[in-house]
This record gives sequence, structure tokens and C-alpha cells, in this order.
Amino acid sequence: MIVTVSGIKSATGKTTIAVHLAVLRAYQNHNVLLIDTCNQTAAEFSNKRRIALKTDTNYITIQLQDISIRMETLKLQQFFDDIIIDSDGRDTNNLRAALSVSDQLVVPFLPTNCDVWSMDKLATLVDEAQGFNEKLKAIAFANRVDVNGQDTEELQKAVSNIPLLTVIPYQLGDRKIFRAALDLGLTVSEMPRSEEQQIATEEIQQLYRTIYSS
Ligand SMILES: Nc1ncnc2c1ncn2[C@@H]1O[C@H](COP(=O)(O)OP(=O)(O)OP(=O)(O)O)[C@@H](O)[C@H]1O
Ligand SMILES: [Mg+2]
Repeated sequence: MIVTVSGIKSATGKTTIAVHLAVLRAYQNHNVLLIDTCNQTAAEFSNKRRIALKTDTNYITIQLQDISIRMETLKLQQFFDDIIIDSDGRDTNNLRAALSVSDQLVVPFLPTNCDVWSMDKLATLVDEAQGFNEKLKAIAFANRVDVNGQDTEELQKAVSNIPLLTVIPYQLGDRKIFRAALDLGLTVSEMPRSEEQQIATEEIQQLYRTIYSS
């Protein structure tokens, strides 16, 4: 399955989610390729840490841009069980190329109006892509939600009015452990056991199950 994690806004958690999905997939003995379209090294850095830690749940990372995302993904898909594309949605050429080959778009958004409004542009791109890629499905979920319950249900409702993106009822809390884990090249499930770690693990696993069992 080819999953693109994207969104128009920056710092919504795309790389965090992409890396978690890649590792959780690798834990289930899937051969995973993570394509980074952002020219950033966070996903690569995380994987290097994993290799240094000698975990056997690594993935392969490459960087691709523009039309190469489509052409090379089509060629590479025969060698991998799963491909995850960490895509910078601000570059619409990259995102268009990723959507043209993906089965699923996953959009983390921050619970702010500004993030919700950015979904319109994304919905237009999904609409265009579904014109020639019928299998493409798109889901969105709120990330970094205030764990004290200050973030509003209205925001979720606002997003659910945007066509073509299904807002799933699960969300990820704004939890330090997500930052700490990524810095170490780990997923939250691999961090030392604590109450926060267990909640974060359950949150990410719920998202994982939603994506890979649909
Ligand atoms: N649920 C969360 N709780 C707390 N911190 C989070 C959570 N999700 C992501 N973060 C943190 O937010 C920051 C941005 O996350 P990340 O780099 O994954 O976003 P991004 O969308 O890939 O950003 P960019 O647009 O720059 O590529 C990082 O410091 C990350 O650790
Ligand atoms: Mg990123």
C-alpha cells in the first residue's frame, strides 16, 4: 500500500506520523520504503539512529522531488510491501505527484482555524487526483490536541464539512513523548514505560489500525 502523509501547513506532525507508520509497519515484518519529498533529514536521521541502535525494524529512506516521486515510486513498488511518502504539501508539484500513485492520503492538522482553512486547497488537489487515481482515499485527524481538553469540537466539525477528506474520530494529544521519541529515532511505543507513553502508544496504534485495516 502507498500512503502519503501531507498537509499544506508546516509543523503539523507529518514526519512524526510518517516515521511512526514506517516503524509500526516494519514491526509487522513489512519491507518499508519511506520517501522524503521535503529535503529534510528528520526521517533519515531517525532511521540512522535506528540502525545505530541495531533495531531490526528499520526502513529504507530516499529523497525524491517532483515528477520523480511518481516515476520512481511506480518502479520501486514491486520491491516493497509498503511505501510511505512524507510530503510537503506546500509544494503542490510534489503533492500532486505523490497523490497520483497513492492509495491513501493521511493529513494531520493542528486544531487551529488557520489549519482547518488550509484544507480547502488540499480538497481541491484530492479532487483533481481522484480524477485519474480512483483508488485514492483521504483522511484527516487532529494532532497536538490540548490534553486538557481545551481544543474545540467545533474545529473537528468544521473540517468534517470539507468534502473528500474524512475526519477520523481519533486524535493525537500534544505530548512531549512524541518529540522525545523522534529525537531518539524511536517511536513512542519503544520509549520507557510511563502513563504518557502508554496513552501516546494507544493513540498512534489507533491511527495505524485505521489506515492499514481500511
Ligand atoms: N502529538 C504531538 N505531540 C507533541 N509534539 C508533537 C506531536 N506531533 C509532532 N510533534 C512535534 O512537532 C514538531 C513538528 O513535527 P514534525 O516535524 O513531525 O512536523 P512536519 O509536519 O513534518 O513539519 P514540516 O512541515 O517542517 O516538515 C516536532 O518537534 C515534533 O516532535
Ligand atoms: Mg516534516
